[in-house]
Amino acid sequence: ERSLLGLKDLSREEITFILDRAAHWEQQQEKVTPTLVHKFVANMFFENSTRTRNSFEMAEKRLGMEVINFSAESSSVEKGESIYDTVRTLESLGMDVGVIRLKPVGLLQELAERVQIPLINAGDGNNEHPTQALLDLYTMRKEFGSLEGLNVAIVGDVEHSRVARSNLWALEKFGASVNFCAPDNMRTNDLDVSYISFEEALRADVVMMLRVQLERHKGSGLFTSTEQYRSAYGMTAERMGMMKEHAIIMHPAPVNRNVEIDDELVECSKSRIFTQMKNGVPVRMAVMERALR
Ligand code: CP
Repeated sequence: ERSLLGLKDLSREEITFILDRAAHWEQQQEKVTPTLVHKFVANMFFENSTRTRNSFEMAEKRLGMEVINFSAESSSVEKGESIYDTVRTLESLGMDVGVIRLKPVGLLQELAERVQIPLINAGDGNNEHPTQALLDLYTMRKEFGSLEGLNVAIVGDVEHSRVARSNLWALEKFGASVNFCAPDNMRTNDLDVSYISFEEALRADVVMMLRVQLERHKGSGLFTSTEQYRSAYGMTAERMGMMKEHAIIMHPAPVNRNVEIDDELVECSKSRIFTQMKNGVPVRMAVMERALR
């Protein structure tokens, strides 16, 4: 049984194993394969989610699992119960594995040390979002055949992005070149990464746009309006025209349409945004299988 807390400490071989199993599940014609029958999973979301939560549930049901969906807002968390006590409670009820999304950074590691069941990180604060990065790598590998030598530009609010961190740490293991592009007030100093201009970012093989969390930047004096942000860092038709012919646009979603990417480009021929979501299901099937193998 294995937890998946992040990609920083996962080897290239382990990531490749997950991506290869995801390819197996993507090719599987049967919608439900009784692989993990009689295994119980708790999806514990202490932060909102559309894609990750439903994608995990879809993956779990496709593997024949019994699914318990825990939602913090209708639970005893509202009465002050701690996240640890909540996870211990669900473990006591007989869960075999837990999927968990939470805000505080560092708590997940502590929880994994204190409970017996494997935990899968569905996003912890601005630290890691490993299954998102795995589906991103899966999407890139499928598109380009290999991650080696791939030029990936991650654009936008990297300071608050767990997606940027997990992608950076995973892609570097495969010999991809990762650069960030962000306004001064959305950069972070805790990562060893180069910042490039948007013009340079547009020359990458993959231009990964991030969701802007403007509400967190109030008072900084920079980009206080979505229109200001769009004009400096938004993906517009003109900017897309500067991209290489083979290059693609990615975004973890949810998307702020007409802020980081224009409405008309969300489903354009270069966009892989909905492909990423689709790939999330077989990737999470592989992660779940690994957790309970
Ligand atoms: N990409 C992602 O994590 O989306 P959700 O917040 O909807 O799960």
